[in-house]
Amino acid sequence: MTDGADLQQKLDILEQKWDSARAGGGPARIKKQHAAGKMTARERVAEFLDPDTFVELDAFVVHGCTDFGMADQKVLGDGVVTGYGTVDGRTVFVFAQDFTVFGGSLSGAYAKKICKVMDLAMQNGAPVIGLNDSGGARIQEGVNSLGGYADIFLRNTLASGVVPQISAILGPCAGGAVYSPAITDFVVMVEDTSYMFVTGPDVIKTVTHEEVDKESLGGAKAHHRKSGVCDASVPSEHACLAFVRELLGFLPSNNVEDPPVRPTADAWNRVCPELKDAVPANPNRPYDIRTIVRSVADDGHFLEMQPEYAMNIVIGFVRLDGRPVGIVANQPQHLAGCLDIEASVKAARFVRFCDAFNVPLLTLVDVPGFLPGTAQEWGGIIKHGAKLLYAFAEATVPMVTLITRKAYGGAYDVMASKHIRADVNLAYPTAEIAVMGAEGAVNIIFRRELAAAEDPDAKRAELVADYRETFANPYKAAELGYVDRVIRPSDTRQELIQSFRMLRGKSQSLPAKKHGNIPL
Ligand code: HXC
Repeated sequence: MTDGADLQQKLDILEQKWDSARAGGGPARIKKQHAAGKMTARERVAEFLDPDTFVELDAFVVHGCTDFGMADQKVLGDGVVTGYGTVDGRTVFVFAQDFTVFGGSLSGAYAKKICKVMDLAMQNGAPVIGLNDSGGARIQEGVNSLGGYADIFLRNTLASGVVPQISAILGPCAGGAVYSPAITDFVVMVEDTSYMFVTGPDVIKTVTHEEVDKESLGGAKAHHRKSGVCDASVPSEHACLAFVRELLGFLPSNNVEDPPVRPTADAWNRVCPELKDAVPANPNRPYDIRTIVRSVADDGHFLEMQPEYAMNIVIGFVRLDGRPVGIVANQPQHLAGCLDIEASVKAARFVRFCDAFNVPLLTLVDVPGFLPGTAQEWGGIIKHGAKLLYAFAEATVPMVTLITRKAYGGAYDVMASKHIRADVNLAYPTAEIAVMGAEGAVNIIFRRELAAAEDPDAKRAELVADYRETFANPYKAAELGYVDRVIRPSDTRQELIQSFRMLRGKSQSLPAKKHGNIPL
């Protein structure tokens, strides 16, 4: 054989191997995947990354299992596609579980492939994106598979707060396998084709006699509305991949970088006349806090996270002056904006994410207090509410707080008050900063006067009006310096941007410690 022919033969072998790896579980299983409304792992990666940027690693890895006839069943790549590429020109590492190969189930070799990209992501300071679609532990591999999961969980934990980790759930994700996505920063689920649960419907029926189908148990809607496990529920795989790309656009590649700046034509000093009466004069009338968020945001764009869970608090990302900002806002439209267990946990985790990744925080406050009731007390609102307090108090990113209306009681302290190191505290003239609302306060401090009054209702009205005039405003707090500026609502955008510009050089640290003990 000539040298040229020898070389060509070697190149042909390489091509054959690539063809074999790309074939995954074969045409019949790929057809089944498509028929189920799902893309293959490689199709997903190609759509997710910038065109032609994917560099696949370990495409020729095979499992080492010999039990149950597995020695004859080796598929190049072994059911997971791993590698790196770019999103908007920035490097990301990706793994995509291939359901056409052994149902995407995880073997020891497969786990090592995922660990390799996670290690590379950590070394190079780039996000890890997991595209999940798997039947869980590869049953034929036994503990080798369980160990593989644990190797991934360890890396998820060590990477937490160092590089962003995002999980897209595009098919089954069951058993202990759910704990890898659970440790990542954000979970995005596709409606109707994805589900997550620790124990499935059959086990539940056996143990608790409850009957539930897998969609109601662990579908996107269940986790988006009921459990809070899912940060975004989207109607299709395309929407899911687009959502993750957009989310990445708000995030730095790692914890020592700043979030990316995206220049905008939206003037920093744009006046927002629509905000003049965004907060109703009647303190009991609800309004949608998101109208304020969208008015002030660059180009009116707000990427809301968990929009259907704990709707009494709103979280998500905007850009101000081209720079990403995390929003935490009480929502007067739901439960009057009260803080409860779910809202506290939702917001606390978001605050910690933003703080870990240098995303400044804007907190909008309209909170009548913590939600009263035995369900809340016995459910541990003391501990869960403390999480939000702890998260804000621990945060060292630039923090700007705007009180639009009520800031009552302990909730005033919790919602990024000056006292827990918010940097700039602003208030609208409609702000009411007090221990409690006027009616409640009058009933307590004037109980005797009210009992003795000839006309208790008239007396109460008079005392309430008096209390309102004295406390239901931002000026007591402004006198004490707890509010830095009382602002015109129409100036909100420029006030916020000036504050965040001033804070660009902020540097603050925490006392040296191994780690704190957040009330989990
Ligand atoms: C090996 C598996 C597999 C698994 C599926 N397959 N799950 N192979 N290990 N865990 C294979 C099937 O044999 C089949 O192979 C192919 O994948 C597709 O599976 P189907 O059942 O035909 O697909 P579908 O009807 O869509 O059902 C998908 C499924 C079901 C719901 C995921 O396959 C299933 O229930 N699988 C078992 C799930 C499970 O119990 N996993 C272990 C959970 S415990 P062929 O050759 O026919 O295409 C766990 C612990 C993790 O994961 C612990 C971490 C600490």
